[in-house]
Amino acid sequence: MEQLRIPGPTPCPGEVLNAMSRQMINHRGEEFGNILDKITANLKQLFQTRSDVFVLTSSGTGGLEAAIVNALSPGDKVLSVSIGVFGERFAAIASQFGAEIIPLRFEWGRAAEADAVRQALNAEPKIKAVLVTHNETSTGVTNDLASISAVVKEFDKLLLVDAISSLGSIDLPVDDWHCDVAVTGSQKGWMAPPGLAMVSVSPKAWQAHAKARMPRFYWDFTKARSYLEKGQTPWTPAIPAIFALYTSLEMMVKEGLSSIVARHARVGKVARDGVKSLGLSLFSDENYAFYTVNAASASDGLDVAKLRKILREEHQIVLGGGQQKLNGKIFRIGHLGMVTEEDIEQVISALKVVLPQAGFRS
Ligand SMILES: Cc1ncc(COP(=O)(O)O)c(C=O)c1O
Repeated sequence: MEQLRIPGPTPCPGEVLNAMSRQMINHRGEEFGNILDKITANLKQLFQTRSDVFVLTSSGTGGLEAAIVNALSPGDKVLSVSIGVFGERFAAIASQFGAEIIPLRFEWGRAAEADAVRQALNAEPKIKAVLVTHNETSTGVTNDLASISAVVKEFDKLLLVDAISSLGSIDLPVDDWHCDVAVTGSQKGWMAPPGLAMVSVSPKAWQAHAKARMPRFYWDFTKARSYLEKGQTPWTPAIPAIFALYTSLEMMVKEGLSSIVARHARVGKVARDGVKSLGLSLFSDENYAFYTVNAASASDGLDVAKLRKILREEHQIVLGGGQQKLNGKIFRIGHLGMVTEEDIEQVISALKVVLPQAGFRS
């Protein structure tokens, strides 16, 4: 079987795969309501929030769009803190719906600085919301969201967080860090298939929502809330993905959030140390530990496309490449969800064999 070590979709445990093979049920019936209630309770526990949490049938990007259109109006000034591909995407969505973007970009591979966020907020008092990516999957950098959120709180702005590849794997206490909307996706650390976005909505986000005028229909949080009260979603949900998420959340709650977070930290260290032991250098600033994805630079003759091809064909290991301007310049090892130290040790052993075959001269 292939070792899928990209930063999502991630492998699903057998129990989760089995859960998807059962017959469909009535999404307006009692059984579905019980399942959705349990999913919501488990998500609240893992998001560390008492706020509302909704499950949307969509990929993560749909969840980002939901965050934007439910909280903002055309013409709102938005500070976009961006450290890579996904930070740019979040801003692009807001811009498409008419927000005025004030970009705060950091070099790819580095983390955002809370002081720079403070300066930007000081410079433009009319900023309404701050967009930030917790874990930038394209570079493997985890922003210091605790510090950034403290600054956003100082200025009493809305904080919209792309936590797609962090929630459920990296510690993110949504309430303590004042995240007004936090978004994640089922195919990342949640050990479930793609197809669901999960979003939390704080009381402050609800206040913004009441005045927000961006167009929305499918994503409307008011509809999501009123249907959830009946144990339903407004639209037909991806029922097999819901069964899968129900099962994976039960497994996650059993393992316990602190154990999950500790496991990801250990696995991240195995990946990081392993990459360095091979003579490769990490693409990203090592001060910002990469718990769910590590990016290695292509140096010393390494042909990334060839490396990934040989790994896949001869070792059944699938790694991620670089996105956009990082194409050919880095490769990425995803280690989130169902992953152990042994899985990553296996990847490192295979890399040791394949790197010279792909031109790397250490
Ligand atoms: C940080 C981050 N944001 C956004 C996305 C987009 O999610 P999706 O592909 O599920 O729409 C991803 C997926 O890789 C991600 O890792």
